[in-house]
Order: sequence, then structure tokens, then C-alpha cells
Amino acid sequence: MPIFLDAGSLEEIKRFHQMGVIRGVTTNPTILLQNGVTGGMPAIKKRSIEIANLIAPLPLSVEVTSNDKDKVVEQALTFTSWADNINVKVTIHGPNGELENLEIIHELETEHDVRVNVTAMMSAQQCFLAALAGATYVSIFGGRVNNMGYNATDEIRKLRHVLDQFNLDSKIIVGSTREVLNIIEWLNAGADIVTALPKFIEGMIVHPFSKETVQMFLQDATRAEEMLPETVNGPFEDRS
Ligand code: E4P
Repeated sequence: MPIFLDAGSLEEIKRFHQMGVIRGVTTNPTILLQNGVTGGMPAIKKRSIEIANLIAPLPLSVEVTSNDKDKVVEQALTFTSWADNINVKVTIHGPNGELENLEIIHELETEHDVRVNVTAMMSAQQCFLAALAGATYVSIFGGRVNNMGYNATDEIRKLRHVLDQFNLDSKIIVGSTREVLNIIEWLNAGADIVTALPKFIEGMIVHPFSKETVQMFLQDATRAEEMLPETVNGPFEDRS
């Protein structure tokens, strides 16, 4: 399941889903806000259900909007009641480094059968602990790691190694894409999944020389159509 789409727009999700190239969708409060999801929980519910139905049975990550323990558990149970393919994003710790979240993650996975995507992580060691707590997905923010002056691929390699060493089943998601190259680069370093912005998947597809080659094929198809049958054995200019 190598590529997820990091998106909140139904049109964009539909476009890439119809191509058959994505294996899931991730959202967060910032992405939803950027895509016009305002008005609180009713709006989050509406958009989440629309996306979940559109991509089912592929997974959709929806992030909790609180760091209060009771509210996180309540929201997690609510989100997963909206559709079978919804999993719940919970940050590795609170806004000031509060430690309760790992306990909540462990409880959601082991007592409530909620698949948790632990998010906002910047290092292999954070992801390792989230995996030990039982997270289904551990999300490291590759672009932010690089922006801080560390090397995301080193963290991904270390994380892949320890998860394999201790037979931990968590899937590594790398998010926070900043350039087209990130997708192959991070998968190559050992990520199970890269969750990419739509513009970077588009960038993977389109190449200027492919455009030029397609134009040549179409022009020559038209030329051939217009030529009389007896001229087809003549010499052709090689433009490859
Ligand atoms: C994915 O799960 C993350 O929420 C997302 O990729 C974060 O990206 P950003 O660093 O561009 O906010």
C-alpha cells in the first residue's frame, strides 16, 4: 500500500482514486480547513463520511481535535462509527509534551479495537514507542524533519530496522511531502507508505520528454493517416 493521498478535497481524492494509484487517504485539521471544512464536528463528519464512502474499503485517517483524554476516546469511537474504513489520528504527545497520549493510543488499540495512526512525529524513537504501544500506523513528518536540518531518510531507515528487529507490525507512514522526489526516496528508505500531496503525485506522472514523445506519436499518426498508401515505404526522419 505504498501511496496515500494527503488531501481533503473530494475532487482531488476522486481524481487519483479513479486512476487506481492511491491506497488510502490521510487528513488533519489543517488540511480540512484548507479545503473549506469549517463549522466544527458536523462539517468534519460530513466530509469524512464522503471521503470514506468514496474510497472504501481503502483506509481514511481522521485526526482528533482535542487533547483531553476523555474527548480523544469519545471522538475516536465516534469517528470509527461513521465508517468501517476510518482510522483515528492521535498526536504522539500533547501541545506541551504531555505524556498521556501513548496510554490513550494503547487503550484505543487494545480495548476499543480502534486502529490508530500516531501522528506529528519527527524521529525514529518516537515512532518506535508508538509502535510498542500498539499503533496500527506510525506517521513521521519527513519534510518537517528535513526542514529542521535532520535527514528524514536516516530516521526512516533506523525505524524500519527496529520495527523489523522486534517484529512490530505498525506500518510506517511518511508524510509532510515537500517535493516529488520524496515519494520514491522515502519508500526506498523503508517506509510502508508515503502520504503525498496531490501536486506531487501529479509531478510523478508528467515528464516534459514524455510530453514531447506523445506529441511526436500523435503528429506521426496524423501524418500517416493523411498519406496515400503507396508513400508509406519511403524514408522517415528518426526523431527519437
Ligand atoms: C500526514 O499525515 C500529515 O498530517 C501531513 O503530511 C503533515 O504535513 P505538513 O508538514 O505539510 O503539515
